[in-house]
Amino acid sequence: MSMQKTLLVTGSSGLIGSEVCVYFSRELGYKVHGLDNNQRAVFFGPQGDTRWNQRRLAEQLAGFEHHELDIRDRAGIQELVRRVRPTVVVHTAAQPSHDRAADIPFDDFDTNAAGTLNMLEAVRRACPDSPFVHMSTNKVYGDSPNRIPLRELESRWDYADPAYANGIPETFTIDQSKHSLFGASKVAADVMVQEYGRYFNIPTCCLRGGCLTGPNHSGVELHGFLSYLVKCNLEGRTYKVFGYKGKQVRDNIHSLDVARFMAAYIAAPRPGEVYNLGGGKANSVSILEAFKIAEGLTGRPQEYAYQEQNRSGDHICYYSDLRKMRAHYPSWDITQSLESTMTQIVEAWQERESIAPRR
Ligand SMILES: NC(=O)c1ccc[n+]([C@@H]2O[C@H](COP(=O)([O-])OP(=O)(O)OC[C@H]3O[C@@H](n4cnc5c(N)ncnc54)[C@H](O)[C@@H]3O)[C@@H](O)[C@H]2O)c1
Repeated sequence: MSMQKTLLVTGSSGLIGSEVCVYFSRELGYKVHGLDNNQRAVFFGPQGDTRWNQRRLAEQLAGFEHHELDIRDRAGIQELVRRVRPTVVVHTAAQPSHDRAADIPFDDFDTNAAGTLNMLEAVRRACPDSPFVHMSTNKVYGDSPNRIPLRELESRWDYADPAYANGIPETFTIDQSKHSLFGASKVAADVMVQEYGRYFNIPTCCLRGGCLTGPNHSGVELHGFLSYLVKCNLEGRTYKVFGYKGKQVRDNIHSLDVARFMAAYIAAPRPGEVYNLGGGKANSVSILEAFKIAEGLTGRPQEYAYQEQNRSGDHICYYSDLRKMRAHYPSWDITQSLESTMTQIVEAWQERESIAPRR
C-alpha cells in the first residue's frame, strides 16, 4: 500500500483551493483530490467561471483527481471522505461575497454553514486525526472594527488607537455588530469548526482571511478586490468606489503565503485554533493607493467613479495582527510583498486574456 499522504481540497478550482493543490502536490509530494462544481459561475455568472483553473490543475499536477461534487450534498460528501480518507482536509469552498449573500440567503447559508458541517462530520466519522483547515473570514468581526477611532491620512484611514497599531487580533469581538448574511453564515461555520476541535479534539483551525489574492483569482466586482481592480485597469473599465472617500484600507495576502501557513499548521496542528490570516500592516493598501500602484505597473490610467454610499457593513480600515501566527509558527512569514503580488496579477490577466480573448 502506498504511504503517500493525501489531501482533499474543497473549492479546488478557486483562488485559494488551487494554490493549495499546487503547493501540496509540487512542494510537499501529496496526492491531491480536488472537489469543486464551478459554483462560482452560478454565484457570479460567466466572469466567475473557474473551469480554466480546474483544467490547469489537471494538466499540471501529477495524479490530481477532480471530484465534481457539491459540498451541500451530505451523502455524497460522506461517501467521498470515507473512500478517500484524506490525511489532510483544506476547506475553501464557499459563497464568498457579502453583497451577493443578501440575494441568495439560502444558497449562502447552505453552502457556507451547512456545507462546512457536512465536511466536519464526514471527517469525524472517517478520519478524525486528519488536520482540517477552514478558510474563515475577517467578516466574522462584523463592522465592529469600524468603532475603533480612526485618523484620516492623505490617501488612507488608519487606527488612531495605539492598541491596534499592529492590527486586529483574534480576541476581537465577533458579537453584536453588522456582519452581512455572508458574515453570519461564516460565523456559524467558524464556531462549528472550533467546536469540532474543542469538543471532538479534531485538529481543526479557522483562518480568518483578510483580502486573499493572487494571480489565479477569477476576480469579479463583488469578490476579488485587487484582481478585479487590476482587470478594470487593463480593460479601461470604470471601477466603482463605494464611500469612505476611497481611503478604505485592506490587508492583502498572496495565496502562496496562505498555502505556506496551512502547511506550517498541518505539520504541528493545535486543535480549535483561530488565526487572523492577512497581509498585515505592511501589505495593507487603500483603494486610492491601489489605483496608483496599478497605474504604475500598467502605464494605464485607472478610470473610476465615486459613490458616496458605502457597502453595507464594509470595513473602513482593516488589517490583521499577525503576531499570533508568527508566535505559534515562527518559521512562517509573509514572503510576497504587495508590489510583487500586484505585478503577478497584472501579468496573469494579460496572459489569461490573450488565451481567452474577451467576448
Ligand atoms: N478571496 C478573499 O479575499 C477571501 C477573504 C476572506 C476569506 N475568504 C474565504 O476563503 C475561501 C476561498 O476563497 P476564494 O477567494 O478562493 O474563493 P473562490 O470563489 O475563488 O473559490 C471557491 C471555490 O469553491 C467552489 N464552490 C463554491 N460553492 C461550492 C459548493 N457548494 N460545492 C463545491 N464547490 C463549491 C467555487 O466554484 C470556487 O471554485 C472562502 O471560504 C472565502 O470565504 C476569501
